[in-house]
Amino acid sequence: MAGGAYIESGGRQYEGKVTAFVLITCFVAAMGGLLFGYDLGITGGVTSMEPFLVKFFPVVYQQMLDDSSTNQYCKFDNQLLTLFTSSLYLAALIASFFAATTSRLFGRKPSMFLGGLFFLVGALLNGFAVNVEMLIIGRIFLGFGVGYCNQSVPIYLSEMAPAKIRGALNIGFQMMITIGILGANLINYATSKYKNGWRVSLGVGAVPAVLLCVGSLFLEETPNSLIERGQHVKAKTMLQKIRGTNNVDEEYQDLVDASEAASKVENPWKNITRRRYRPQLTFCSFIPFFQQLTGINVIMFYAPVLFTILGFGNDASLMSAVITGGVNVIATLVSVFCVDKFGRRLLFLEGGAQMLVSQIVVGIMIGMKFGLNGEGSFNKGEADILLVFICLYVAAFAWSWGPLGWLVPSEICSLEVRPAGQAINVAINMFFTFGIAQVFLSLLCHFKFGLFFFFAAWVLIMTIFIAFLLPETKNVPVEEMHYVWKSHWFWNKYMPECEDLVAGAYNNSEAAPSN
Ligand code: BGC
Repeated sequence: MAGGAYIESGGRQYEGKVTAFVLITCFVAAMGGLLFGYDLGITGGVTSMEPFLVKFFPVVYQQMLDDSSTNQYCKFDNQLLTLFTSSLYLAALIASFFAATTSRLFGRKPSMFLGGLFFLVGALLNGFAVNVEMLIIGRIFLGFGVGYCNQSVPIYLSEMAPAKIRGALNIGFQMMITIGILGANLINYATSKYKNGWRVSLGVGAVPAVLLCVGSLFLEETPNSLIERGQHVKAKTMLQKIRGTNNVDEEYQDLVDASEAASKVENPWKNITRRRYRPQLTFCSFIPFFQQLTGINVIMFYAPVLFTILGFGNDASLMSAVITGGVNVIATLVSVFCVDKFGRRLLFLEGGAQMLVSQIVVGIMIGMKFGLNGEGSFNKGEADILLVFICLYVAAFAWSWGPLGWLVPSEICSLEVRPAGQAINVAINMFFTFGIAQVFLSLLCHFKFGLFFFFAAWVLIMTIFIAFLLPETKNVPVEEMHYVWKSHWFWNKYMPECEDLVAGAYNNSEAAPSN
């Protein structure tokens, strides 16, 4: 298979080095992840702070006080409060579609800037909230911010990065997400001791937002987007600057070809539903769905609640949440170093297997202790073993589905469907983040320990899905991805001849250049 040879040889390699300019640029852009991570991490803690509940959700607070049931599975099940948490994800879902149009027509930079600005307004509204209305409107602004950032940052990173380190640079986004979550956990830990601490927790979100807004003003636009918008000369200069060489003709020509193909497309939304984009549509839809069905956000949102339920005691439960947050950051580093060396598939498969085993162990341990009626608690030794397995699970996610959930969709789409594909990825991700946040506590109440087996079953399904359907994409330039599909046992039947795919890129539909 021609494409197989292409991939084995590492794909087409353009001349160029990894420049400081590209590293700094990607670092600034990855700040977008900090916003998302900060929000993921801050909300669970804030909604368990007493003064916050008394002020905005007195009914919920009263219910908690009145609840005298001993069934640990069914404590904390309150829809109003979870709706507050998850409203942000619905706003992000809607915003991602607007962001796709902004990114395509005006570039990736304005999308990132707008993302930062929305988030800033949201953080301020929340920090200074005097009533529930301000709180909810603030959440909606935060959601718009997340939608804009998550749509534009991953594709910005994938377009800026040279193919051979694209994985590592793109994972900068996930790295910032995990740092945001950990930072938020620590801030909550500190502020929970003060009456108005929740204001600080919510308001501090303004800091990464300002960083992103200011940073994005100084960022350069990607050559792909410049060419797409007709700014050819500027695009070539930019490409030379980010690759650190004047000899960028070949890569430049491929970008121009990709852009020409893209310009023939009238409606990118309709386009991605065409047969030839079936693999992109499949992965941009299933990857975010599966990412959320790993059950990771059960830990991210509800770790303090979960650890309390499991008998860790109040402070201990928060510390355990910080431990899982720390494992999340460190394990993400593993993927930074491995993703371009060992590839995406290996990380997906190893991560999947490790998550599966850990979830089964956690399910069995909780089942044996709490049984069906939910009464019981762990002794110190058992609680520690449980914590180890939860950390093993978080680590596995952090080097597989976490970063790859953002990397793969952003790199597999050709220019003409990239903003649309990424918007679908964000929207589906947000929808299921919302769904899990909304139903987890009810699910726990009804499924009991079986909930861990439920997620384990999904992890098994997604691992099989990857094993059979996802081709390796490491080292393949983004505008050359069609050869990967062409050489895949399943997807090749959806691929038209190559010259039809990218006007004039190669004349030979059989053999992609191996160098
Ligand atoms: C996911 C989030 C998750 C986070 C955990 C991200 O990739 O999209 O839903 O909370 O990873 O680190």
